[in-house]
Amino acid sequence: MSLPKLALTTAAVAEAAADAVIIGILQNGDGVGLAPGSEAVDAAFGGELLAVLGTLGATGKADEVVKLPTLGRLPAGLVVAAGLGAPGADGSLTAEQVRRAAGAAARALNGSGSGRAVSLLSTVDLQAAAEGTLLGAYTFDAYKSETRGGAPARVELASPAGGSAREHRATLKAATAIAEAVTTARDFVNTPPNDLYPASFAERASALGKAAGLEVEVLDEKALRRAGYGGLLGVGGGSARPPRLVRMRYRGAKPRKRIALVGKGITFDTGGISIKPAANMEEMTSDMGGAAAIVATAVLAAALKYPLEIIATVPMAENMPSGAAYRPGDVLTMYGGKTVEVLNTDAEGRLILADAICRAAEDEPDYLLETSTLTGGQIVSLGRRTPGIMGSDELRDRVAAIAKATGEGGWPMPLPDELRGDLDSKLADLANVTGHRWGSMLAAGIFLREFVPEGLPWVHIDVAGPAYNNGSPWGYTGKGGTGVPVRTLAAVLADIAENG
Ligand code: BES
Ligand code: ZN
Ligand code: MN
Repeated sequence: MSLPKLALTTAAVAEAAADAVIIGILQNGDGVGLAPGSEAVDAAFGGELLAVLGTLGATGKADEVVKLPTLGRLPAGLVVAAGLGAPGADGSLTAEQVRRAAGAAARALNGSGSGRAVSLLSTVDLQAAAEGTLLGAYTFDAYKSETRGGAPARVELASPAGGSAREHRATLKAATAIAEAVTTARDFVNTPPNDLYPASFAERASALGKAAGLEVEVLDEKALRRAGYGGLLGVGGGSARPPRLVRMRYRGAKPRKRIALVGKGITFDTGGISIKPAANMEEMTSDMGGAAAIVATAVLAAALKYPLEIIATVPMAENMPSGAAYRPGDVLTMYGGKTVEVLNTDAEGRLILADAICRAAEDEPDYLLETSTLTGGQIVSLGRRTPGIMGSDELRDRVAAIAKATGEGGWPMPLPDELRGDLDSKLADLANVTGHRWGSMLAAGIFLREFVPEGLPWVHIDVAGPAYNNGSPWGYTGKGGTGVPVRTLAAVLADIAENG
């Protein structure tokens, strides 16, 4: 969907010909405070801005947005005051506080008909303000006959005091590329499953990849059969819309490392023969959130010219019950030859991922990064907003630290050995479920580990809840697809590009 155009400005707010001026407000002990950057607006209000905000009941807490008319005190008719929450003990604000406030302010202007806004939040953190503004302005109206007037067409970000104009432009460019990648992932997730199915998803991913200069290969069901992708064919067998495997390759100049990216692309998950209950089943349109993030990240890597080689391997299938569907009791021979006894057709993600991980490993990558909406257990253990991060110890902890720093969040989770025995099968190498409910996110991680070559640093990011917001909008996150964990993946790639 179309995002506002961002620009930098050094003009004084008293001169800015805009419809709205965005400022930050803070929780200061018991009262509300003004964030740095809002001084000129306060001056235009005769130093009474805090008093006015206090009268309006503003507290400065996160996600609070208070709009006040300027009544001619500024060229802009409206001041939008966005809550940043409480600053740190030293008065500092985190990037995520700024990103969320910018997002909340942008959401508050969506549909208001405000054509042009100036944001002063960028004087605190330009990159965060830019990302938050774009992500908060995102709406998905592709299926609405009438739209309610979108985001402001243009948002001018006040230049921060430090750094050169050239640095500021570079920051803005990177922020825009990242927000566009998140938008790509959100658009994929928000596209309904009758329009986004394996072949059409592969087609759209391929078009995006080619436009970004990536090498793209799409395996259709015939090619999958020839090559022995038993997991993907098994899971996709029940659908009239056959599976695909998309491979996308980006090779930066003098690549420092080769990185395999893998993401679950179940375009709709009914559960198959082990069918899910009807309540909220429509949310399983988001079961390709991992694949969406991976495709978006591969395209982003090319836009940001990371000095890396990146190969994305993205399995896509629709999990449906039918006369052709795989069934509980089936034994599948996966790509690479391992056999898996299917005890529950609703544990389908790990089956298509096993194939994809084995294929990805053939490229002999230095790292394997995989993300998926894999288990309800992720939501049970960590809630809807915190991804579960599993894998080899070092990379897991490294990715968890980066995830936290990006504001997307993420928490390292163990792969306890005693669960491996619970995946033993009476007739195959492995069963696809444990037969009990305990630690189901971890059991899925342990299942995946069986397909990762010994010694390859790998990480599995379970985003079952975080990829999709089924609640109210907050910060820069609207309803529906969130684009998580695109920013984490991008930051991990940047970290590997820098530190190996
Ligand atoms: N796609 C689901 C996981 C999921 C649940 C994603 C909720 C988003 C929101 C996955 O395929 C699934 O059905 N997992 C089962 C596994 C079980 C059968 C072992 C689960 O977690 O309940
Ligand atoms: Zn699923
Ligand atoms: Mn399932």
